[in-house]
Amino acid sequence: MKKRILDLTVRAVERLSEKHVLIRLTDEQTLPEMVPGQFVEVRVDGSTSTFLRRPISINMVDREKNELWLMVAMVGDGTRKLGELKPGDKLNCLLPLGNGFSHLQPLTSHSSPLLVGGGVGVAPLLYLGAEMKKMGVEPTFLLGGRTKNDLLELDLFKRYGRVCVTTEDGSMGEKGFVTNHSVLNEKFDHIATCGPTPMMKAVARYAKQQGIYCEASLENMMACGLGACLCCVEKVKKDGTEEATNLCVCKDGPVFNVDRLLWQI
Ligand SMILES: Cc1cc2nc3c(=O)[nH]c(=O)nc-3n(C[C@H](O)[C@H](O)[C@H](O)COP(=O)(O)OP(=O)(O)OC[C@H]3O[C@@H](n4cnc5c(N)ncnc54)[C@H](O)[C@@H]3O)c2cc1C
Ligand code: FES
Repeated sequence: MKKRILDLTVRAVERLSEKHVLIRLTDEQTLPEMVPGQFVEVRVDGSTSTFLRRPISINMVDREKNELWLMVAMVGDGTRKLGELKPGDKLNCLLPLGNGFSHLQPLTSHSSPLLVGGGVGVAPLLYLGAEMKKMGVEPTFLLGGRTKNDLLELDLFKRYGRVCVTTEDGSMGEKGFVTNHSVLNEKFDHIATCGPTPMMKAVARYAKQQGIYCEASLENMMACGLGACLCCVEKVKKDGTEEATNLCVCKDGPVFNVDRLLWQI
């Protein structure tokens, strides 16, 4: 997929919680093709400390409105600056980057996919679920947060499938971690997960025990986003072997079959 550098126009910035914003971007031209699981490297202008672009997942592509959505957790200088954007501002974006989830290809009307997200890691699962629904399959979303304030875009997720939630303090949904949720007693045939690494490891463990195909979207620190600086490498098994090799999460990922990851699960 051809990569582009575009000065997109901010159409709206919505506050989703105290530390999360949804940035809706558009362009005069039709936005390029982008698949769920891919990401954008955004340039943070006007910051004295943020020199490198910041990787942000594609949260949604609304073709009717020609909009690209980015959900941003304001954790440091760069993301806080993004949270200050105003309608009409330009945001320089390098996109689309990475490989994306492969769950859409094997879907049939009998598929029962489970999409598990935690924190801001839920971002790419909205677009994945929307594309699944377009193909006639309603996924089950299993979304977790520390408290109910960490659960984001719940109404949007409900448009595309069943939504199950957990919170660590029990303020919404079932109390505990996503891997404690009772929905896991049901049968699923594909799992996609994105969020904190301990959560993804626990999901990978569940998938392995149940013999379910599972992909995880990694969020290793990145710089170039193009496979040039090697700062995002992850040790994985070479395809079909037990031999280890290094792959760039930005170029060869961010989505990996969990069987290839050398996680101790
Ligand atoms: C493929 C990919 C997709 C991502 N998608 C999203 C998304 O949709 N929404 C979103 O809000 N964030 C996403 N992130 C994480 C986001 O890129 C970082 O939070 C951001 O780069 C931090 O920049 P900053 O300047 O605000 O923080 P900095 O000042 O650089 O760092 C602030 C704090 O955040 C931590 N941090 C920095 N980078 C990361 C990272 N990559 N992962 C975890 N912690 C980090 C630092 O260790 C530090 O504690 C994604 C990361 C990757 C690799
Ligand atoms: S971020 Fe530079 S190689 Fe991945």
